[in-house]
Amino acid sequence: MKATFNAWHINRYGGPDVLTPVSRPLPTPTAQQVLVRIRASAVSRADGMMRAGQPKFARLFLGLSRPRAGLAGTCFSGDVVAVGKNVTQFHIGDAVFGEASLQFGANASHICIDENGSLLTKPETVTYEEAATLFDGAMTSWHFLTRLADVQPDEKILVLGGSGSLGTAAIQFAKALGANVTASASARNADLLRSLGADHVVDYTSEDPLKQGSAYDVIFDTLGVSSFAAAKPALMKGGQYICPALGFALLRYVIWTAWSGRKRAKFAAAGMAKPEVHREELSEILLLMANEHFSPVIDRTYPLTDLVEAHRYVETGRKRGNVVVV
Ligand SMILES: NC(=O)c1ccc[n+]([C@@H]2O[C@H](COP(=O)([O-])OP(=O)(O)OC[C@H]3O[C@@H](n4cnc5c(N)ncnc54)[C@H](OP(=O)(O)O)[C@@H]3O)[C@@H](O)[C@H]2O)c1
Repeated sequence: MKATFNAWHINRYGGPDVLTPVSRPLPTPTAQQVLVRIRASAVSRADGMMRAGQPKFARLFLGLSRPRAGLAGTCFSGDVVAVGKNVTQFHIGDAVFGEASLQFGANASHICIDENGSLLTKPETVTYEEAATLFDGAMTSWHFLTRLADVQPDEKILVLGGSGSLGTAAIQFAKALGANVTASASARNADLLRSLGADHVVDYTSEDPLKQGSAYDVIFDTLGVSSFAAAKPALMKGGQYICPALGFALLRYVIWTAWSGRKRAKFAAAGMAKPEVHREELSEILLLMANEHFSPVIDRTYPLTDLVEAHRYVETGRKRGNVVVV
């Protein structure tokens, strides 16, 4: 009998119910690939948006009428169980973590992945669950704070949306970079933000975080809950508004402020960077973890069979940090 693996199929854009469990023949790695038995994978806000095909212009990359890849999940961790004949960097038994990007298929029992892709060795001190989350909130926030904003010691940073996957990482990273951090959350998450190192916490349900009488070097709007126009008065001269949630308004400001104005709006698609950039950034994050400057926040863990439930929970917009399936 031919060996099979389990995955989740998406044959059309839509809500969590479009996710269908499938069993397929186990692939054989090509010469440059490794076959990973997945131990944990993330269910991110971005995964939900890609399942729904939102925003619509993202379908240019995902598939115009239906998801081209047809499988769910992007970030995973696991063990190498087979290697292609030319693979030199990984061996059977290695614990690894990585990102499938537009190949998808990380919410599964197995995946074949190029050894030169976004794949790294998982340190023993990092759990499979933690490792599965690193390519989402951690890598994105690290990319935005270090590559886009170039945060310096003693700068003042405002993190809008401090309790999400990006926000919980951003607070810890900004502190590790020596910044003074204000973060917004609803009251139920205030203690979490303080425990991550936030110097000041603003309850966005009762106060406007942008009208606290402070001026910031960087405003990191992790959720796109504000805009460059609204944030501009709260930016210092030369300050930067950075936001990972792309819309036409943000795009307009990114282009406009690149040419004129001392205050800038910036966006990047961190997941679309080259694998060597991913590996460099993730190595820096692993160093921060080894030095106890960063620890991923995991809200809930579901069995892989409950992926639909996990998507429903992420869709509430209330998750704290990351959601993982194992
Ligand atoms: N550009 C890129 O490369 C890239 C990469 C990855 C992700 N992203 C994008 O980044 C965004 C953030 O994703 P995420 O995973 O961090 O989100 P998330 O984890 O789903 O965010 C959930 C958190 O947001 C908080 N929240 C909701 N409304 C808020 C508001 N008005 N002010 C402050 N906090 C609020 C909620 O706290 P309460 O329950 O207390 O309200 C909850 O804890 C998504 O749009 C995602 O697509 C972009």
